[in-house]
Amino acid sequence: MKRIVILTGAGMSAESGISTFRDSNGLWQNHRIEEVASPEAWALHPERVLEFYNQRRKQLFEVKPNTGHFALVRLEKKYNVQIVTQNVDDLHERAGSSHVLHLHGELKKARSTIDPKLIYELNHWELKLGDKCEKGSQLRPHIVWFGEAVPMIEKAAEITKSADIFMVVGTSMVVYPAAGLIHYVERKTPKYYVDPKAFTVHGITNLEVIREKAGKALPHLVDRLLNNS
Ligand code: APR
Repeated sequence: MKRIVILTGAGMSAESGISTFRDSNGLWQNHRIEEVASPEAWALHPERVLEFYNQRRKQLFEVKPNTGHFALVRLEKKYNVQIVTQNVDDLHERAGSSHVLHLHGELKKARSTIDPKLIYELNHWELKLGDKCEKGSQLRPHIVWFGEAVPMIEKAAEITKSADIFMVVGTSMVVYPAAGLIHYVERKTPKYYVDPKAFTVHGITNLEVIREKAGKALPHLVDRLLNNS
């Protein structure tokens, strides 16, 4: 089976009702990154950080995958589909995608602050001060904050190098190292960029830019790829 690697960002979940970060009224219009999504913020006022992620987690329990997520699942009929997402929601998984790699962590998980290998599923929206790991340390959101390493990037690069087809959906391509993954794809490999603000990425060949919303564009693109396979 041919391998399709799909890099997704917040735009993938926009039609599910989840705010993106840099669009108008996006999350970074209403919150300062350094106050809610950085190790410094966690050290200074952990309750504010917990509240930021509690609100997003609360919403995640109320929303559902959109037609874009379900279209990507259909690709699995004829392709080995590997999703590399910047998103911390679980909408790809809930839609039925089998292989999802989270570069920036997962909203529905919490992690020990003294042993990063201790990761816990959260089946409720609230993570509070005083919620501790089995070794007695405060639990933190299992999210990659600004300034922190992206442990999964090497694995994502390996997956991306072997793509027979590469797709980018719903990301402004401004946050590295995720945005750099497209440069690991072979020049001859067909690439697609689905986003209302999609642009021709400098130095990238064989790129088809589709300036449409994911929910509208992906069902058609998936039909094309299934018919061509
Ligand atoms: N369909 C497809 N794309 C959309 C849609 C939609 N319905 N709505 C918005 N978009 C696009 C926007 O045009 C934009 O290019 O989604 C992109 C959202 O960009 P950002 O808000 O910058 O989100 P993202 O690229 O995922 O951010 C990357 O930055 O803040 C960090 O860790 C955070 O993972 C995030 C990373």
